[in-house]
Parts: sequence; C-alpha cells; structure tokens
Amino acid sequence: MTNSFQNKAPLLEVDRLSVDYGLKGNSLRAIDGVSFVLRAGEAVALVGESGSGKTTTAMAIAGLLSPNARVSEGVVRYRGERLPIDDDAAMRPHRWSETSVVFQGAMNALNPVHRIVKQIAEPCMLKLGMSRAEATARAKELLELVGIPADRGAAYPHELSGGMRQRVMIAMALACRPSIIIGDEPTTALDVITQAQILKLLGELRSQLNLALILITHDLSVVAECCDRVMIMYSGRIVEDGTVAEIFADPKHPYTKLLIDSIPNPANGKKMIRPIPGDPPNLVNRPSGCAFHPRCPSAMAVCTTEVPSLDKFGQGRVACHLHQSLQNKVTVHA
Ligand SMILES: Nc1ncnc2c1ncn2[C@@H]1O[C@H](COP(=O)(O)OP(=O)(O)O)[C@@H](O)[C@H]1O
Ligand code: SF4
Ligand SMILES: [Mg+2]
Repeated sequence: MTNSFQNKAPLLEVDRLSVDYGLKGNSLRAIDGVSFVLRAGEAVALVGESGSGKTTTAMAIAGLLSPNARVSEGVVRYRGERLPIDDDAAMRPHRWSETSVVFQGAMNALNPVHRIVKQIAEPCMLKLGMSRAEATARAKELLELVGIPADRGAAYPHELSGGMRQRVMIAMALACRPSIIIGDEPTTALDVITQAQILKLLGELRSQLNLALILITHDLSVVAECCDRVMIMYSGRIVEDGTVAEIFADPKHPYTKLLIDSIPNPANGKKMIRPIPGDPPNLVNRPSGCAFHPRCPSAMAVCTTEVPSLDKFGQGRVACHLHQSLQNKVTVHA
C-alpha cells in the first residue's frame, strides 16, 4: 500500500538528530540519529516504551528542550529552513507558531488561578500581537472549535473535567495557527471513552485545518484509527517506520511484532496487555550492537556487535540485521 503523502513536499525534516542530557558530570544520549520526514496534513504516530526518547524528539522539534539538553548532531528543517533548536532566543519566533505541543496531564500545564479564556487569549496577544478584546474573541472561537461552549471560558481549570481540560490544551496549542501539532501522550490520563473523543477531535481538526500531526503514545492500539504512518522507537532510535496497514499486517522488526502481540484482543480471548519480557535498556550503558538484542527472540551473533542501520524496506524502513541480511540475499540473487 502506498502512502498518499509520499509525493507532497516535506513540512518537517528531522535529519540524524541526536540529543544528550547532562547528568551530574555524566551524559546520556536520549535520542541517537533520529531521521524522518513529515508532510503537510500527514498524521504519524511515534510509539515506544517509556524512556525510548519520544518526548525528547518532540521537545527538540518544538524548540522546548530542557536547559541540560544538548543537540549533539543533526538538524531539524521546517519548510526547508534549518531551525535554531539549540538556541533558546533564536527559537522564540518559531515556538508555538509552527509546531506546538499538547502535553499529557493538562492540570499541571494550566494555571489554576486564571480563567481558561484568559489562558488561551494570552498567546494570541503575545505571539500574534492582538489586542485583549481581539484575543478574547479568538480564544472563544478556539473553545468552540474544540467543542467547548464559549461561555465556559469563564471557568477555572479545576471546574472542568479531565477531557475538557485536554480540549483547552488543544485550543491553546492551536492559538498561533501552527501547521504541526504534537500530541505527547495527550490521552494517557483519560478514561477510554474520553480518550476516543479527544483522538476523534484531533482527527477532525487535522482535516479541518490541514494540520500535520505527530501522535506520541506507548499504546500502539490507539494509532490505527487516527494515523497514516507509525514510527517505532527503541532506545532513542527509530527501529521501524511504515504505513499503519503495513505495520499491523506485516511488522518487520521483532520489537514491533512483540508490541503488536502485547495489545489485548478480545476477539481471540487476549484480554490483558502482555508485557514484553525483559527491561528497557539503560541509556547510560546502552547494550552493544542492536540495543534490543538482550530481549530479542531472533537475536543472532552479529546483533551483539553491530548496530543495524535504518534502511528502506518495502514502503517503509527497518533497522534489523534479520532484514538487512534477507535484503542482501535478495540483492545477490537478483
Ligand atoms: N531533562 C532530562 N534530564 C536528564 N535525562 C532526561 C531528561 N529528560 C529525559 N531524560 C532521559 O532521556 C531518556 C528519554 O526520555 P524521554 O524522551 O522522556 O522518553 P519517552 O518520552 O519515550 O518516555 C530517558 O532515559 C529519560 O530518563
Ligand atoms: S538486529 Fe538482531 S537483536 Fe536487533 S531486532 Fe533484529 S534480530 Fe533482534
Ligand atoms: Mg514521554
């Protein structure tokens, strides 16, 4: 199956991006050579266990890295122009107006002492130069857009449900008319029904506003409905990238296969999430070769010494010696 976005110009290009965190004299490589392209209107899921580098990737793209982070390699381009993601001041004009982030846990991100309409109006005044009256009118429009009646804008965050608060976060993320929204586990703290409503809202906004979407989640089961493509991360690297149809029907990487197997499926009596055996890797002391080798049921000798590169495979990409050797065999016999 081809990806209908393949022929569109890239909106965002992440090119061999590596980010290290400084930690009490030590350094930890949180993402290592991450490369991908996002096109206008495309929805891509970034999936992996906790600690795999999903949030660091998002923060780097949005120019929101923490002060102890260092961009050690690579570039991020927006509409072909390099973003100064490691320069806080130079990044200011880009932040929230090109790419904005909807975080998990809206209660922590919202100011408890201000009415929500004021909190949405604030970025419109600061970034779009609107007067208070204009910004308030825009904030009310944004509330309606995310399914909250404008008169609820007078509420304080604690007066709203978790789902409503997450809608407010989405309204704030849209305030400066970005073309990319990153949802960093935007539904993790919500019940299943509210989770489905928020994902539906993001899908509707995406087509209404032609937004590109990066949906970050540890839960592969939520991506099928609302994404075109899935990128699987493990230990700071993308290990597989393919269309939703390819990933679910024919996963190539052993980690992707285990992630899919771990999804509960009432149709075949599998009710519980089956955790992947073994522990996620320690990034301070990353395993040699393929970082997944200590947990991989298909590991070979080469896996303990050589890092597999992320190579094109079919319509997507995969980083696994299993497929590299198969591909080489195909080339030899061709
Ligand atoms: N500000 C920070 N300082 C030091 N280490 C960090 C910081 N933020 C994240 N990390 C580490 O970087 C790695 C990747 O984290 P993160 O990008 O948050 O992963 P994910 O979002 O997939 O859970 C983890 O080992 C995490 O502990
Ligand atoms: S490279 Fe080796 S250890 Fe890594 S996923 Fe592939 S088979 Fe498993
Ligand atoms: Mg995270």
